[in-house]
Amino acid sequence: MYPIIKNIHVSSVVLTFLFFFQRGIWMLQDNSVLQQRWVKILPIFIDTTLLLSGITLIIILHQYPGSQAWLSAKLIALLIYIIIGSIALKRGKTKTIQATAFLLAIATFFYLVSVALTQSAIPFLVWF
Ligand code: HEM
Repeated sequence: MYPIIKNIHVSSVVLTFLFFFQRGIWMLQDNSVLQQRWVKILPIFIDTTLLLSGITLIIILHQYPGSQAWLSAKLIALLIYIIIGSIALKRGKTKTIQATAFLLAIATFFYLVSVALTQSAIPFLVWF
C-alpha cells in the first residue's frame, strides 16, 4: 500500500504546483480563463487527493504531527501556502500585492518540498 499512496501523494504534489503556477501566470496576464468553472474546481480535486494521501501516509507510518517536528512544520507551511496562494490568485487588492504573494507562495512551496525530502523543519541545514 505504502508505495502506491506515496506515488499518489507525490503526483498530486507535482500537479498542484503545476496548476497553481499556471493560474498565477493567468492572474498576471488578467486572463479570464481564471474565472472559468473547471479552473476553480480542478484544484479542489487535486488538493483533496494531496491531503487525503498525506493523512493516509501519516496513518501507515504512525508519524503524527505532534511527535514529528517536520510534519508540524509542513502543516504550518501548508496553511501559510494556502493563505498566500489565495492572496495571489484572488484576495490581493493590487497586481503588485498579488505578484509578490505569488512569488512568496512559490518559495513556501519549495520550503514544503524541502521539509518533506529531508524530514527536517530546517531543511537548509543539510546544505552546510
Ligand atoms: C503542498 C503540500 C505538500 C507537499 C509539497 C508535500 C510534499 C511531499 C513530498 C515531496 C513527499 C515525498 C518525500 C520523499 O520522497 O521522501 C512527501 C511525503 C509525505 N507527506 Fe507530503 N506534501 C504536502 C502535503 C502533505 C500533507 C497535507 C500531509 C499530511 C496531512 C503530508 C504528509 C506526508 C507524509 C506522512 C509523507 C511520507 C514521508 C515518508 O515517506 O517517510 N504531506 N510529501
